Amino acid sequence: MNTIELMDCLIGMQHLQEESVDLIITSPPYNVGKSYETKTDLDCYLSWQREVIYACERVLRVGGSIVYQVGNYINKGAVYPLDCMMFHYFLECGLIPRNRIVWHFEHGLHCRNRFSGRHETALWFSKGEEYTFNLDSVRVPQKYPGKKHYKGPKKGQLSGNPLGKNPGDVWIIPNVKHNHPEKTEHECQFPLDLIRPLIKALSNPHELVLDPFMGSGTVAVAASELSRCYIGFELLGKNIQIAQQRLTALNVE
Ligand SMILES: C[S@@+](CC[C@H](N)C(=O)[O-])C[C@H]1O[C@@H](n2cnc3c(N)ncnc32)[C@H](O)[C@@H]1O
Repeated sequence: MNTIELMDCLIGMQHLQEESVDLIITSPPYNVGKSYETKTDLDCYLSWQREVIYACERVLRVGGSIVYQVGNYINKGAVYPLDCMMFHYFLECGLIPRNRIVWHFEHGLHCRNRFSGRHETALWFSKGEEYTFNLDSVRVPQKYPGKKHYKGPKKGQLSGNPLGKNPGDVWIIPNVKHNHPEKTEHECQFPLDLIRPLIKALSNPHELVLDPFMGSGTVAVAASELSRCYIGFELLGKNIQIAQQRLTALNVE
């Protein structure tokens, strides 16, 4: 608990007990040739990802959730949306799809031969029909907070939930580039604002959140901030150091 192990995640997850994790949030390598991955052919990459998804399902408890955040695999100008290619792996292992969240960001590469990519997606599945969903913890302000029914039996009463509205499944959050205050040396860092609502909505305090591809530790940082426990795996020691620095800074604040 509350540890990031320097280890291949498939080996790491073998050491975890079956159904011992409450929530999994992760972003695997996209096979696009970043410094932390070896680009391989698409079939080979997908069969590795299938193995990871099955390993995640094994360690996830019934009633828990998994959120898998991916973008596109791009090869010689051909664009393959990874969520579409992986979706059936989750179904195959019996997980139930709940949302496909579109994360829209406004900055990125400027393409010449196609529209510039400005979104990635997060697939959310639950294990079992019953699952944690703390909607009230992630409501956002209503567009017209004081709006009331103007006729009918509810005339005069507020028409929207005073706690705010459901945030929907399109989230506009800046990506962590250049001058972003959270930016570390990691090449592909999640923004905390993407992870915090997922942890709040899909888990309860003191539960265990796993990130098999921990990178710079964003899931661990968000879990700590929100009084959840975390565990993760990461292949590169320099990334674990970055994550440790972020976690230490959190305790100092
Ligand atoms: C897309 S990044 C994750 C970034 C992370 N979400 C963050 O906010 O920093 C994927 C990470 O997985 C790590 N990785 C790649 N293969 C791995 C494996 N087999 N086991 C564990 N970690 C791995 C990479 O070193 C990289 O840091």
